[in-house]
Amino acid sequence: MIIAVDGPAASGKGTLAAGLAQHYGLPHLDTGLLYRAVGLAVADGVDTPGFEAAAIAAARALDAEHLEDLASLTSADTGVLASKVAVIAEVRSALFDFQRNFATQPGGAVLDGRDIGTKICPDADVKLFIQADSKARMERRARQLEARGVEVDRYALFHQIEERDARDMLNPNGGFYQAADAHLLDTTQLGIEAALRAAIAIVDRTMALK
Ligand code: DC
Repeated sequence: MIIAVDGPAASGKGTLAAGLAQHYGLPHLDTGLLYRAVGLAVADGVDTPGFEAAAIAAARALDAEHLEDLASLTSADTGVLASKVAVIAEVRSALFDFQRNFATQPGGAVLDGRDIGTKICPDADVKLFIQADSKARMERRARQLEARGVEVDRYALFHQIEERDARDMLNPNGGFYQAADAHLLDTTQLGIEAALRAAIAIVDRTMALK
């Protein structure tokens, strides 16, 4: 069983995907980490003329099995870098095989990202498209950061999330839209437990109809 989970920044898709993977005993891949690792590798040259070529080289050289330094990978600034390298077609194609192989391993997998249901696994058994309004997403991300002791400027964070959403949605080489056969799950009003219960219900219902 392949489960595709797509959604915008800070929508809770990573937490949901991890919860689904645990519930169904499947391996989980957070595909955002791949783009984040590429972004981090070229962070010093961001927005300079050689940036694209460096990002492509970094994507081709990426050891996706062994991503290190998780703390800096998950920072908000790395998310912005990731979203910038993710518009480069050759970066996306360099990361394609790893994601596709992960998805098609025997037994199945859960993958979360932006283009899983549209480009990486258009044939996934179940597709979830996670949505939550941007103010709710900003507030969740702010609390996560504050729990780590980071001081948060909510206005700047809101702006950053909206800017990243726009770049990701308009990405000409991306595939960030709700697939025709994806189930929409709005988590604006849901806590983690309730969102996971709703996602499990969708997966069970979809699989029962197969
Ligand atoms: O899921 P995330 O916020 O960790 O992803 C970071 C960035 O990587 C996101 O803003 C866009 C890009 N990305 C992508 O283009 N395609 C994916 N499947 C996953 C992430």
